[in-house]
Amino acid sequence: MLGLLLLQVLASCLWLGHSEVVNSFESCPQFFYDGIPPDGALNPNNPARICQRFNNSYHYATLYDRVRRIPVYSAYKYQPGDDEKPPRKWMVEPQLIDRKSLPDMKFDWVLTNENIFTLDQIKESQAIPDDYNRLKDLDRGHLCPSGHQFSKERMMATFTLTNAVPQDKTLNNDKWNKYEYKTMPQKTQGCNTTYVITGAVHGNTYVSNNRVNRPSHIWSAACCLGDKEPKDAWGAIAENDRNRVEVVSLEELEKRLSDLYNGKVTLFKNACSQK
Ligand SMILES: *[C@@H]1O[C@H](CO)[C@@H](O)[C@H](O)[C@H]1NC(C)=O
Ligand SMILES: *[C@@H]1O[C@H](CO)[C@@H](O)[C@H](O)[C@H]1NC(C)=O
Repeated sequence: MLGLLLLQVLASCLWLGHSEVVNSFESCPQFFYDGIPPDGALNPNNPARICQRFNNSYHYATLYDRVRRIPVYSAYKYQPGDDEKPPRKWMVEPQLIDRKSLPDMKFDWVLTNENIFTLDQIKESQAIPDDYNRLKDLDRGHLCPSGHQFSKERMMATFTLTNAVPQDKTLNNDKWNKYEYKTMPQKTQGCNTTYVITGAVHGNTYVSNNRVNRPSHIWSAACCLGDKEPKDAWGAIAENDRNRVEVVSLEELEKRLSDLYNGKVTLFKNACSQK
């Protein structure tokens, strides 16, 4: 009897260890500088912490707002490469529907075809591809962009809607794109490791029948390690209805976010903030 109980406890521990939607980011601290996620004020009322898993491994981490059906931020290591770009096919997160469900992100049509979930069940906890299909001036804007990842597998893992927000189409294709692919390579020269946190400040309006929040701002922060110690840090922020990105100090970004989120926001541990 005791043996059976132990077995059950062990089994549930193993199961939790594999789970992707977690209480803390303990299965994927490697995506945060010094293993420490940003603090308090960013947390929405009903958050989900997702260690983004695809093809049996973790690729980045996301704090997801279940009520607004958009991510708050995705945290990752900046590791661009020249692997071939994957097809733009977007997935969803089974564990937002049921914590005990499949640990890897999946295509919604796979979940429905295999009778794992109905589309209504999926829609309840998150955005689905259909929410974005009819948007005209808004793109599915990646928080962790595929082009900051080195392998095809890791690039594919960025195509989950838990890593996307409705982003102004012009901004996404022009100035934000330039920040991601021109400014970042310049600023990360000489960095051994660069930790990035990219987020969206929730806005006052919704799209797709009031299902998905349209963020007011998109922001990004970077902490660059020289050898192993922080060497440089910076931030960027854009209003989500105009084609302009401001590159600012990390301190300035944290100040602006603290105003926008109504509470103190610290993105990296002090050592990086003081750069
Ligand atoms: C998934 O992982 C396997 C085993 O590591 C690898 O051979 C395969 O290429 C991966 N699939 C993708 C799409 O990267
Ligand atoms: C770069 O970072 C890696 C991983 O953190 C570390 O093991 C290595 O010592 C660093 N190398 C240099 C040259 O900074």
